[in-house]
Amino acid sequence: MLSARVEGAAMLTWGLPSFRTPEYIRQGVKQYLDEDIDAGKYTLPDGLTELRELVVATHKAKTGIDVDADEHVLISAGNMQGLNTLFHTMLDPGDEIILTDPCFASHIQQINLFSGKPVYWPLDESNNWSLDIDLLPDLITDKTQAIVLVSPSNPTGKIFTEDELIRVGEIAVQHDILIIIDDPYSDFVYDNIDRYFNLASVERFKQHIVYLYSFSKSYAMSGWRLSYMVMPAELKYEALKVHDATMVCAPRISQLAGMVALSQPSDHKQEFSNILNGRRELICQRLDNLPHVFANQKPEGAYYVFPKIIAAHTDSKQFAIDLLNNARVAVTPGSAFGPSGEHHVRLAYCVDEATINLAFDRLEDYFKA
Ligand SMILES: Cc1ncc(COP(=O)(O)O)c(C=O)c1O
Repeated sequence: MLSARVEGAAMLTWGLPSFRTPEYIRQGVKQYLDEDIDAGKYTLPDGLTELRELVVATHKAKTGIDVDADEHVLISAGNMQGLNTLFHTMLDPGDEIILTDPCFASHIQQINLFSGKPVYWPLDESNNWSLDIDLLPDLITDKTQAIVLVSPSNPTGKIFTEDELIRVGEIAVQHDILIIIDDPYSDFVYDNIDRYFNLASVERFKQHIVYLYSFSKSYAMSGWRLSYMVMPAELKYEALKVHDATMVCAPRISQLAGMVALSQPSDHKQEFSNILNGRRELICQRLDNLPHVFANQKPEGAYYVFPKIIAAHTDSKQFAIDLLNNARVAVTPGSAFGPSGEHHVRLAYCVDEATINLAFDRLEDYFKA
């Protein structure tokens, strides 16, 4: 990464929160290591039965939907691995996956890895990056396998509304395509908490939805590599072949950590969310002080802002390189997130306030000059 070569750069690039894995999870894992003689062994390919049962209960509490641990739940090593398994399972060369534009950059790369074709569904920037449902039906062809949704979104921080999501669900059922919900951020929702809607909670869409929940951000467990997928039984049957042939199972020690995480009440998520909300206020306020450089729309969730570049520039990549070399501030060029991302940058505000302030002090100096 280019930014690593510039010493002392203020990094707003990585979506890696500053938090430590909560104490109760660390302690629980220590106990398993001491007392569970199987802690170092493989598990079943789809994961420990006890963890999958906890996922069933968690999914029921979150969505109201009943699922079966054996038929529908697969434990994976992070949503990235889960998505990789899904794309590997469902894509023949030339098959299409609809991605919002902008979208999470790795989705584009993963689809390309399996010779699939990302089809971009432009979000409505004039309406704070909301879904433009009227555009969707025309993007669907006989090659379309799925639509990927992330809400709150990376990179825009947008929360899609219940009404919009239900309409996507209806269209998916009508055309018999899947909706893949990649969910690392639903625990980080700031304004209008009631606005967040999980499409996986609609019973009539159950056969058309794959829901992927990541422990990385909500439990500060990004390095443990753990997530779960809830999906239609026939798809799990096929996906399990890919998952088993690729990695046998998610690491058992991480699965044990997941069991501790899901089996005990904890208020750390609210704490994380409160801290991130404070950082959101700070970064938005600092962006507002640079109206000649950025036009920003306040994000509703996750921990990213995606302002438009107002200052003179050629493209977002060159703009990011210039900021790195001349202001020692690292940002991600918007073009990495799809064609509509051009002329924007993504700033991750999961870093501490000192880093945000350092970055913006430098930006203010640079653009004053
Ligand atoms: C939309 C999205 N999906 C997936 C991931 C990665 O999740 P995991 O750590 O569970 O692989 C990220 C991380 O930034 C993300 O933003």
